[in-house]
Formats: sequence, C-alpha cells, structure tokens
Amino acid sequence: MMSVSIKRGGSVKISPILIDEAYRGKGIGRKLIETLVQFVEKNRLRKIYCSVAIQNVGTLAFFDRLGFVREGYLEQQYRGGMTEVVYGWFPGKEIPIADDVLIREMEDKDAETIKRIALSYLPRFYSEMNEQFVSNMIEAHRRKIISYATKHKIIFVAERNGEVVGFLTSTPKRGGGVKLFPSLALSLDIEKALLAYAIQHFKKVGRRKVYGFVPSTETDRIRLYLELGFRTEEILLEPYKTGVNEVWSRKDYCRGNINPNPLSLSWRSLHRRLFYLSKRICRQIRKFV
Ligand SMILES: CC(C)(COP(=O)(O)OP(=O)(O)OC[C@H]1O[C@@H](n2cnc3c(N)ncnc32)[C@H](O)[C@@H]1OP(=O)(O)O)[C@@H](O)C(=O)NCCC(=O)NCCS
Repeated sequence: MMSVSIKRGGSVKISPILIDEAYRGKGIGRKLIETLVQFVEKNRLRKIYCSVAIQNVGTLAFFDRLGFVREGYLEQQYRGGMTEVVYGWFPGKEIPIADDVLIREMEDKDAETIKRIALSYLPRFYSEMNEQFVSNMIEAHRRKIISYATKHKIIFVAERNGEVVGFLTSTPKRGGGVKLFPSLALSLDIEKALLAYAIQHFKKVGRRKVYGFVPSTETDRIRLYLELGFRTEEILLEPYKTGVNEVWSRKDYCRGNINPNPLSLSWRSLHRRLFYLSKRICRQIRKFV
C-alpha cells in the first residue's frame, strides 16, 4: 500500500509506502511510484516528497534507486536520536550531464574566456570578485603545488566544439577536503559534467571530501548539487555580499554520508541487500541467455 496526500502548492507527500515482507523485491514498490508519477504528471502537480528514517537503509536504497534526491536531513524530527532523510522528486526536472563536452585542465589560451564567463556571473552575487580576483585565481592555477601556503588551485574547463563553455576551480585544502568554487558554465548540463568530473578526479587521488556553495536563490543549481549526491550543510547569511545568502554543501567519499554508522547495519538488512543484488544479477544474466 501507499498513502499519499496532496498539499497546498501542488506537492504530493508519500506517507507511508509499505509492501508486505513476503512480496518485497518483486517490483511492486517501483510500480506504485511509477503510478504516482503518472498521476502527478497528468494533474500537473509540482513535486513528490517523503521522509525516511536514516536507520531504514532498505527504504533509503529504494528511493535512491528510483532517482529521488536527498534534499535534507532533519535531526530528531519524530523521535529523539532519529534523523529523517527528506527525499524529493520533480517531474521532468532531472538535469542531464552533457556528454558532448571534453573536460581538461585549463591552459593559458583559455584565460580570456574564463575571465569573460566569471565576470558575467560573479559580481552579481559576490562583492569584490572582480577582474583582479579572476586573475589571481588563474595565477594560482599556474603555480605548482609546493605547499598549502602557496594557495594552489586547479582549474578544469569544459570544451564543446573547440570552445570553452564553462570552468570549475578547485582548491585542495589541508585535512583532505577540496573546495569547488566557482563552478560556472553556459548551461546546467555542462556545469553538471564539470562537477561530476571533479568528484571522480578527487576521489581517485584520495581526497576525503569535496564541498561548494551556491547562492540560495539559485534553486536549479542547488538541485544540481543534490542530484550529484552533495549534502546541504548550512545556509550562511550574507558571507560575500549583502542580501545574498549561500547554501553550503559537501560530498564525502565514504559510507558515513549514507549511514552515520555503517557497522550498525543489521544482519537482516545486509541479507536483504544481498538479496536485491542477486536479483539484479539474475535479471542481467537472463537478458543474455
Ligand atoms: C522499500 C519498499 C517499499 C520497496 O518495495 P519493493 O516492492 O520491495 O521494491 P521493488 O522490488 O519495486 O524495488 C525497486 C528497486 O529498488 C531496489 N530496492 C528495493 N529495496 C531495496 C533494498 N532493501 N536494498 C537495495 N535495493 C532495494 C530494488 O533493487 C529495485 O531496483 P531495480 O528495479 O532497479 O532492480 C519495501 O521494502 C518496504 O515496504 N519497506 C518498508 C517501507 C517503510 O519502512 N516505509 C515507511 C517509510 S515511507
């Protein structure tokens, strides 16, 4: 069964979805959500959301799998010691990743385009992020890593048909974190490709986490970060410009991001995960036989 309620403003809350244990893993949960999605699209509703206790790892895996985005974590929402993960889904709003762009490190010839893209955006939201700021940023990319004191940066650019169409500046920090700021592109799919590349890159080189921030009015860009698995940490009040608050978010490269204590996974949930994994493998094998 699944119970839903339609809220003011056109959002739909699932509360709860529950499949009899004997019938789990047979696609019934997915079917229920697909039916709800059709209902939402047909009635031009705006959004589906629900909340799941963080200990309920099976249901978290279900909503993750179905493409719901983790929008936030509400501590002690219904019970002391219990955090609720809030999931959201918007019809037709998932941002694709541009697959026709080449991502590479910045070269000297890209400097002018990077300046142009940066200056067409940054001054709107950040005081004193002017030409000098952008020149310093590019200079920091040209410096070799000597120590953290040299404030080295790595700038990645996205190239489409030989043109630079976006860039992302990364700053490795002490303690294993990497700041990703600014990430700017001519469209959201390109920015998504840049961020996805940086996430992979810094995971590969053994970094602990990446983090970034976006003006709180830039809803589509905040959603982009959430779709890539970033977790919103805080809203900072006017850190760079009067009247502009920043949504600060981070992505950790460890399971702690999903479950506060992975060792707390019970044998039962482990058993269930193996069950779903074997089901998926069987389905793939059947496709080839
Ligand atoms: C979560 C729940 C609804 C899933 O229903 P279900 O019918 O078993 O799920 P489905 O078989 O449709 O699975 C859909 C997808 O989610 C994945 N999935 C579902 N449960 C999973 C689990 N425990 N672990 C890993 N993946 C899981 C499946 O692998 C499947 O992926 P695929 O279609 O790509 O193969 C069901 O387990 C349940 O009722 N759990 C309790 C729910 C609850 O606590 N509700 C209260 C909070 S809302």
